[in-house]
Amino acid sequence: MHILDIAENAVSAKADLINISVIVDEKRDELLVIIEDNGIGMSKDLLDKVKSPFTTSRTTREFGLGIPLFTASCENTGGSLDVISEPGLGTKLTARYQYSHIDRPPLGDIAETLYSLTLMNPGIDFVFSARKSESFLYDTRELKTTLDGLPITHPEVLSFIPGFLQEGITQVFGGNDT
Ligand SMILES: Nc1ncnc2c1ncn2[C@@H]1O[C@H](COP(=O)(O)OP(=O)(O)OP(=O)(O)O)[C@@H](O)[C@H]1O
Ligand SMILES: [Mg+2]
Repeated sequence: MHILDIAENAVSAKADLINISVIVDEKRDELLVIIEDNGIGMSKDLLDKVKSPFTTSRTTREFGLGIPLFTASCENTGGSLDVISEPGLGTKLTARYQYSHIDRPPLGDIAETLYSLTLMNPGIDFVFSARKSESFLYDTRELKTTLDGLPITHPEVLSFIPGFLQEGITQVFGGNDT
């Protein structure tokens, strides 16, 4: 859910490349979620207050919860959320969880998240990497090259993606409740 929220921020920031990494480091008992985009970025002023729920560029309501909720989720496990951003260049969030902490949320259905993001944003490229003792890479740029002009939203392509993601992610992390 947090990944989807943060990726939506990147989509709103007009990114055309969104890089998502989920890394489990068992030795350091750490789960890292890194989301990087090449969107419009944030001014220093915005960046300084982005962890406050009263910071938003939404016009529909006066608070934004994506980043504050993600921050709280990390901090519940003794971890932290780092945000770096450069106007005109993009934004990078690094979420750090204590992997074995009882309050660490499960990884959830990352395959479904990535599939939805791909389907909803055919003009944006997504690179996803999963790492534990093995690794898995999903790169829509590579996929589009292989497709040789066939749109990524073609039914045959869309029916291939979920299984590909699910298999790769399960290979690295095991089942959904990891
Ligand atoms: N990747 C990003 N690039 C540029 N600006 C960003 C990015 N992520 C967040 N922001 C800025 O920070 C604000 C707060 O983000 P946050 O996700 O916390 O709330 P929101 O997106 O405004 O609302 P919600 O997530 O609740 O729908 C955004 O409105 C936007 O101005
Ligand atoms: Mg948001």
